[in-house]
Amino acid sequence: MSERLQTHELETRGPETRGLETPQRQTPDSLMLYGFWYRALPSGQVTRNRLHKAVLLETPLVIGRDRQGKPFALRDACPHRGMPLSCGRFDGQNLECSYHGWKFDAHTGQCQLIPSLTSDQPLKVDRIYAGSYPCAENDGYVWVFVPEPPLAGAGFTKAVEPSFPAPRVPTFDGKYKIAHLTADLPCSVDHGIIGLMDPAHGPFVHQAWWWRSRHSIHEKQKNFEPIPMGFRMSAHTPSSNSAPYKLLRLYADADSITTTIDFVLPNLRMETIRAGKYWFSSLTTVTPITRSHCRIDVVACWNIFRWVPFGPELLKFVFAKFVEQDRQTMENQSEGLKHNPHLMLIDDADRPAKWYFQLKAAYLESRRTGTEMRHPISGPVTLKWRS
Ligand code: FES
Ligand SMILES: [Fe+2]
Repeated sequence: MSERLQTHELETRGPETRGLETPQRQTPDSLMLYGFWYRALPSGQVTRNRLHKAVLLETPLVIGRDRQGKPFALRDACPHRGMPLSCGRFDGQNLECSYHGWKFDAHTGQCQLIPSLTSDQPLKVDRIYAGSYPCAENDGYVWVFVPEPPLAGAGFTKAVEPSFPAPRVPTFDGKYKIAHLTADLPCSVDHGIIGLMDPAHGPFVHQAWWWRSRHSIHEKQKNFEPIPMGFRMSAHTPSSNSAPYKLLRLYADADSITTTIDFVLPNLRMETIRAGKYWFSSLTTVTPITRSHCRIDVVACWNIFRWVPFGPELLKFVFAKFVEQDRQTMENQSEGLKHNPHLMLIDDADRPAKWYFQLKAAYLESRRTGTEMRHPISGPVTLKWRS
């Protein structure tokens, strides 16, 4: 573990390269954080009459819904001889393995029946469990809690109960629109996340005539503060150089528009924009699938433009365009990363990325030592960059 943690430590060289730090070539087992909720599948994909496969943190899962529509998630391997349970049959309550017909309760994983047992064989069937994971359904996604330590393969272990609920998109009144977007990214969760929080790629990756051109690049100054397990870009008035914000200011008839962006471990980016009585909020997650693949899911809720017929389509269009630009960029980047080149993080534009690695290291350290997590950011910080 200590070896692994050293890879997170940022090495600073001589004065001429101050602010220039070698990146973290992390070993795969520190890439993914256990003990958190993750978005597994969009709710709409999890139909009642079928079993669905998903992978989270390199763990294959079978996901389905019971008769009442409540989702469940089991490890997609029978505790008997490893047959994927997704090959089995589900009657709305119990899942029957396709190999020898063992039956498991879909929610608890507890074994209900072993057909090969004779009446005088004393094996206690109910002591056997298929790996089962807590499930929740929020904002159009089935969330799965991936425990720490990872569930042992087969056996006798019940599901762990998470001590905190699955995240939600913050909403500010009852009536709003909701939309989601998803994209697979061919890179590790770390590159997915630091790509998401990177302010300097905007003018180069997200160009569009209706948004901004690369020539609109200018100096910016943003205030950050530590929050539990993460950091916040404090409420600020977004840059006025983009057309949609100008439009919004006019439409909302509000003097000020404020936006807040939070990043919280393991993978949550929450953005809230408020203008008078109007608001827009989103929760973006970057979910580790394998060590070299992740998935970005954006769920947005808003009451802005709710009455304008083309409003939601317009917002979705803007969002989809952004996500696609990021996806394309990361696909190209993954080519460059294939052979593990040296990388660097610079101040201040890459400071959020550094904080991410420091937060992760601090979290892993606190788990290792059983002590409280030492937050790497001691107080409010102002960062400057041009974008
Ligand atoms: S492998 Fe599932 S019942 Fe034997
Ligand atoms: Fe981006």
